[in-house]
Amino acid sequence: MSSELLKRVECKLEEIPGLGTFIVVPKGLEQVIPDTTAISGVDPKGEQTLYRGYTIEDLGMNADFYEAAYLISRGVLPCDEEYKEFKKKIDYWRGRVPEKVYDALKTLPKTHPMYYGAYGALLLGQIYAPEWSFDKDSLYEHQIRLSAQLPVIFAAAYNLANHGTFVRPDSGVDHAWDLLRMITMREPTKLEARAFESSLVLYMDHGFNASCFTVRVVASTLSDMYSAIAAGIGALKGPLHGGANEEAMKMFLDAYKKAVEKGVPLEEYIVDYIKERLARKERIMGFGHRVYKIKDPRTDVAAYFIRQLKDGEMWIKVLKNAEKVMWESKKLPSNIDLYTAVLYYQLGIDIPLYTPIFAMGRVVGWTSHYIEQVLDNRLIRPTEKYVGPVGLKYQPMEVRCRR
Ligand code: CMC
Repeated sequence: MSSELLKRVECKLEEIPGLGTFIVVPKGLEQVIPDTTAISGVDPKGEQTLYRGYTIEDLGMNADFYEAAYLISRGVLPCDEEYKEFKKKIDYWRGRVPEKVYDALKTLPKTHPMYYGAYGALLLGQIYAPEWSFDKDSLYEHQIRLSAQLPVIFAAAYNLANHGTFVRPDSGVDHAWDLLRMITMREPTKLEARAFESSLVLYMDHGFNASCFTVRVVASTLSDMYSAIAAGIGALKGPLHGGANEEAMKMFLDAYKKAVEKGVPLEEYIVDYIKERLARKERIMGFGHRVYKIKDPRTDVAAYFIRQLKDGEMWIKVLKNAEKVMWESKKLPSNIDLYTAVLYYQLGIDIPLYTPIFAMGRVVGWTSHYIEQVLDNRLIRPTEKYVGPVGLKYQPMEVRCRR
């Protein structure tokens, strides 16, 4: 088995004359374990994907934002006093985004809101720089502040650029309810807020994915937490990672438009629509995963809430039919981004905010990985295998460009 794996992923030992022996791992680091973590682990079968020992489904169904965030950060579920203290701090800091940040957000152009998050994280880093320290308690305080304030920045900047106004946070209400209110600029129902909160819990962490690894690489240079999170936001923005939830919804809306033209219900038309796109060799966003090859367990929890929201039964049929055709054609399972796309649409959220919402949950995981990395650090610095030309000699332009 191990030699089969080594062959499949092209992993080998290689002697490079004059340099020594190197471990050559596959492009994309598939099946490579660069370090250990006690924060979360992704199970390829989707049965035991864990946050600190608890399955992701258990927490997605039952834990609130504060409980899940405390667990991911500190390693255990909080008890009464710990919970109250943690919640108080998250709520306090959510309401205390520095006025300088709002002033800066008012000047930004209309663009993708992931830029606002990276920009905002770096602004906070500059404002809080005088208080920066690698002391463990201080790291936890920065984590709380950043986790509380980054979501506000996304919501405020997006609404300022797109609607010319924004809703200020309220420290007297629950985090998830308040964020959804700031995002949509209307008061959500209890069910809507709980569905949204559950999605934040499901997004909170997920092993060494691309943005988490990016954060850990930046942390390993002993750069500050804010810079690492800005880099993580950049990695999450891509359509192969967090950007997939936006692309999945655009796909559903395109399919819906065509279904209406043809006079066929979306839940039926989605099958032909996907087959046509596959025939054109297109990627179907919201399907496939580097680790999950059978099932992404987060989808069941999201489905539970989708069913209860607007047009829930219809959306579940669309999702199930899309899954059936993708499994039959490509043996690919759906992933969480397919489901949150629908969930956020049901909640009336603008599509460009879907990936920022992923970041609103994931900031807890990123900052926990930052802390885990810096408290037991080793600079992450692989070695390249140079395959370019050798032996060239510099020539001035008049010589090297002579015809
Ligand atoms: N649609 C159609 N074909 C696909 C898809 C897809 N979504 N995903 C993989 N494939 C095909 C791919 O073309 C290849 O086929 P072949 O062997 O015939 O060339 C095969 O499946 C293997 O693909 P791969 O790219 O080598 O697999 P990977 O493990 O590197 O890909 C992935 C993982 C997530 C990049 C990929 O599945 C993908 O692009 N999915 C769409 C984007 C997406 O939904 N991303 C969200 C991931 S989960 C949330 C998160 O963590 O961000």
